[in-house]
Amino acid sequence: MNKSLVQEQFGKTAASYLTSTPHALGKSLERLVAITSPQKSWHGLDVATGGGHVAYAFASHVARMWATDITQEMLDLVRAEAQKRGLSNIRVAYAKAEALPFEDESFDLVTCRIAPHHFDSIPEFLAEVRRVLKPQGLFALVDNVVPQGSVGDYINAFERFRDPSHLRAWTMDEWRAALKKHGFAITHEEQLYKKIEFKSWASRHDDTMQALLCAMLAQVTPEVKAALEPQSTGAELTFRLCEGLFINRRA
Ligand SMILES: C[S@@+](CC[C@H](N)C(=O)[O-])C[C@H]1O[C@@H](n2cnc3c(N)ncnc32)[C@H](O)[C@@H]1O
Repeated sequence: MNKSLVQEQFGKTAASYLTSTPHALGKSLERLVAITSPQKSWHGLDVATGGGHVAYAFASHVARMWATDITQEMLDLVRAEAQKRGLSNIRVAYAKAEALPFEDESFDLVTCRIAPHHFDSIPEFLAEVRRVLKPQGLFALVDNVVPQGSVGDYINAFERFRDPSHLRAWTMDEWRAALKKHGFAITHEEQLYKKIEFKSWASRHDDTMQALLCAMLAQVTPEVKAALEPQSTGAELTFRLCEGLFINRRA
């Protein structure tokens, strides 16, 4: 089977997602657990698990947590890490977000964090989440979000230049409309900013590409600058991205 762009990109960099600060330590991880109040009887599914951080965070609170992804290197990594952490209730499986290999109404909780901006079809993903959730089940979603209009377009282009598998991060309004359309009642939402260290974010690229990405961050309109907040302190360059967090009940 030919690898998709996603499988190419994430297969090459899988190990880095286990330790990457925004993934392993991002604020949204603890917020998801705090707001959903997981129960010991619950069966949960984490879609596009990457380095598995959401599955690890929920595993000790629930009966079973499935960690799923389409990149084999991620699945291998999560299987080994769950064992290392003694999390024996984590199951690992291949699953495409738009075609989940689970029965209707199987889960009390579905999670998905920092991934839908890579999906071929977010509407198909949402329809699948609704299908596999039990009635009144919870869907806990986090993804990078962008402002509307040209500022958001620029941020998406900047992210896509560094990682071509980044298709498009949505706005908060797009998410609200799509969640409603697919039969979810939003019970909580918030936006969380995360500081990104440019050096580590761009480290998969050679010097020329890093210089181009750096220029894309430096030569921006005041509106983009206000959104990304690039800052240099000595040799360190940072900027910020925004995550949208939505907790949703299957109506
Ligand atoms: C940034 S990582 C996810 C981070 C992780 N959820 C976390 O919280 O640390 C994005 C993941 O999405 C997966 N992915 C991308 N498109 C997918 C799809 N259509 N179905 C399932 N997984 C997908 C990639 O293989 C990758 O592992």
